Amino acid sequence: MQAIITPPVDLYAQRRAALARQLGADGIALLPTAPERARNRDSDFPYRHDSYFYYLTGFTEPNAWLLIDGQGRTTLLCQPKDLEREIWDGIRLGPQAAPEALGVDQAFSVDEIDQHLPKLLENRRTVWYPFATHTGLETQVDGWLQQVRARVRFGAQCPDRQQDLCGLLDEMRLVKDAHEQAVMRRAAHISARGHVRAMQLSAQRLREGADVREYHLDAELLHEFRLHGSQFSAYSSIVAAGANACVLHYRADAAPIRSGDLVLIDAGCELDGYASDITRTFPANGRFTGPQRALYDIVLASQEAAVAATQAGARFTDPHEASVKVLAQGMLDVGLLDKNKVGTLDDVIANRSYFAFYMHRTSHWLGMDVHDCGSYVEPGDTSVTERTDPLSGEVIKNRPSRVLRPGMVLTIEPGIYVRPGEGVPEQFHGIGIRIEDDAIVTETGCELITRDVPVKADEIEALMRG
Ligand code: GLY
Ligand code: MN
Ligand code: MN
Repeated sequence: MQAIITPPVDLYAQRRAALARQLGADGIALLPTAPERARNRDSDFPYRHDSYFYYLTGFTEPNAWLLIDGQGRTTLLCQPKDLEREIWDGIRLGPQAAPEALGVDQAFSVDEIDQHLPKLLENRRTVWYPFATHTGLETQVDGWLQQVRARVRFGAQCPDRQQDLCGLLDEMRLVKDAHEQAVMRRAAHISARGHVRAMQLSAQRLREGADVREYHLDAELLHEFRLHGSQFSAYSSIVAAGANACVLHYRADAAPIRSGDLVLIDAGCELDGYASDITRTFPANGRFTGPQRALYDIVLASQEAAVAATQAGARFTDPHEASVKVLAQGMLDVGLLDKNKVGTLDDVIANRSYFAFYMHRTSHWLGMDVHDCGSYVEPGDTSVTERTDPLSGEVIKNRPSRVLRPGMVLTIEPGIYVRPGEGVPEQFHGIGIRIEDDAIVTETGCELITRDVPVKADEIEALMRG
């Protein structure tokens, strides 16, 4: 296992300074972290900080706010020291220690927020905060602005512009710096080990004639994640036996895993605030059947085509288009699509006939959030094209897809999902396959950071034999 990665001390200060430069001299940004959420009586969901807030502070306590003004001056509001609360809930940093620990200029108790915020907003022109992400935030900001306005007659200036902070932070977060890439590599490595364990347990238990259920494999994943210091799963694990794999958002449940089934696992850990996202599909007993292997090799070839299309200067949609071409040709070759009904490869693509078996996109951004922030269209390019969707008849307006740059991170995850239906060859019924890896864009291609778990069919079979 690689060593734990500690962030350079001034990393968060550098990000705050970079944001401050974009606020305008008379601007101020305010940003709360995520709220705590009750699960049921006296029991909360495990606390997870807000990703934007963490990106700028590295601070993981709840009930905290960050303010940054256009001069780069930073203020933190955080939970005050409180012996009784700390006995129950854990040590708090507290406002006194915060400036030195986090490098902010000043810190106050969050209990005094209504006292401090109007003063901090006074004599600014523009208030930046994240729009439509924190319930009630707009109302809170309005309340503080009303207090500033009440002081206008004494000469105070009340901000007269509000701007969405998300756009600036999304652009910053889209390109991952060296520290972020290092954490993501390690998260990917841990997740890959979890997948290896799950594959091996499946074959082993079937060899022993033992009962094996989806939750047994989920337990292997979670064990490996926590064993190596991951704090959470980045999302609920999908462990889908047999035809359950055709349900795209299936959750690991209790279905028995049978010899002869395929198992689809889509699971990844979150490490120090960064997600990983891996899917592997493997034969439960370690040996692909002929029809399973035929579809598997098509999905793998389509993923290889998508990987080859991923590099700086390409568009975000290029990997998707590359994988669709291979998938569609494969569907024609094996008879999932009937040439006499759907026509040529070009027809299948133009009419989206492949959609019956491949109904999702090939990629999404990956970072702190598993479906990470960042615009999928090229900022500044306002040209719009219109097309009519051949399946729904809807008119769709498209802006040019994002141009990939080194340091962007995306998943590459094509699949084929075969539900029984008229004209669908029976040998493929109930087969669901997805292969998903995480890619860091480089100048000349991409770095796949999730390949510590095998992906070629022969290599998966070899791993599961031993
Ligand atoms: N695990 C969620 C996704 O693959 O998008
Ligand atoms: Mn994904
Ligand atoms: Mn996934």
